[in-house]
Amino acid sequence: MYRLLKQDKKAKRGELHTVHGVIQTPVFMNVGTAAAIKGAVSTEDLNAIGTQVELSNTYHLHVRPGDDVVYKMGGLHKFMVWDKPILTDSGGFQVFSLAGLRKIKEEGVYFNSHIDGRKIFMGPEQSMQIQSHLASTIAMAFDECPSSVAERKYVEDSVARTTRWLSRCKEEMARLNSLPDTINPRQMLFGINQGAIFEDIRIDHAKEIAGLDLDGYAIGGLAVGESHEEMYRILDATVPHLPVDKPTYLMGVGTPENILEGVDRGVDFFDCVYPTRNGRHGHVYTNHGKLNLFNAKYELDPRPLEEGCQCPACRRYSRAYIRHLLKAKEMLGMRLCVLHNLYFYNTMMAEIRDAIDAERYQEYKREKIARMRAGE
Ligand code: GUN
Ligand code: ZN
Repeated sequence: MYRLLKQDKKAKRGELHTVHGVIQTPVFMNVGTAAAIKGAVSTEDLNAIGTQVELSNTYHLHVRPGDDVVYKMGGLHKFMVWDKPILTDSGGFQVFSLAGLRKIKEEGVYFNSHIDGRKIFMGPEQSMQIQSHLASTIAMAFDECPSSVAERKYVEDSVARTTRWLSRCKEEMARLNSLPDTINPRQMLFGINQGAIFEDIRIDHAKEIAGLDLDGYAIGGLAVGESHEEMYRILDATVPHLPVDKPTYLMGVGTPENILEGVDRGVDFFDCVYPTRNGRHGHVYTNHGKLNLFNAKYELDPRPLEEGCQCPACRRYSRAYIRHLLKAKEMLGMRLCVLHNLYFYNTMMAEIRDAIDAERYQEYKREKIARMRAGE
């Protein structure tokens, strides 16, 4: 159940009540695709840096270790030792971005595993069954994410199919939640809006799925190659047609600036691989822009990654030391950068929530962006 606590212009401050606890929104979900946060980060670490929600993937876990293994181990929460909310993506997007040869049919998608090439079929029912096995807090509907450069006719047909798939997801989820052996019988379902960069298709689709009384609504198919301005234009057009009394989730987004702009347009949930992926490459986020630790100017820099940061990396280590670890390809170097980046993102979300509570979101956003753009 979602409670809208406050609105500052379009920016929403809310709470999503789940069987695994309350999520304060706006929130950033930490990506752990295969039930692991890349960079040797444990769920104990996630607790230490203020993570509210962990995100994993249906497709990856189905391929390895297999959702039957996770189910027999008692579900994802027990398997990875994490008792707070987990959101699982449906597999649709990953099939399109990762899998080899694939065929999209009305019933679902036929594709080859990116691990061993074996043939797999996934449709709405399979995706719901796998996510029910994983027993995540929130399951995502099975969708197709058409390319941002797809032609109008293709996008229209694809979105119509995604809507039919959504109805099948809802029906299957209700059936699974009523079975006696289901680990989480109160699993929630979020629908996904698509429509590439066509505003009218996006709006029609948003109106259509808004009537299905789902637990939340995601906007998919963005940050897939279109410009930031185009993404903001689509958000401006689409979000007002999604229920304000349900959480809105902008999938796969994004940079700190993208998140600040998304919140400004009414988005509650975000997820992105940037903090983990960039951290593994020695790129760290600070209030004064992004640093590349491989830069020679940090060789003798005794300062923490960010002055005043309370993350496990900044409380102890210097830029010079972390730079050395990265250059020596020591795992600890990556780990410290990832921990700092996730802490930065989670802390920014807490600042965002405070700013909306205090009705000074516009001012906060303007200042944060100006500081990050100004650099060191
Ligand atoms: N992650 C980022 N974009 C998307 C999308 O369009 N669909 C799904 N299922 N996941 C995503
Ligand atoms: Zn730090």
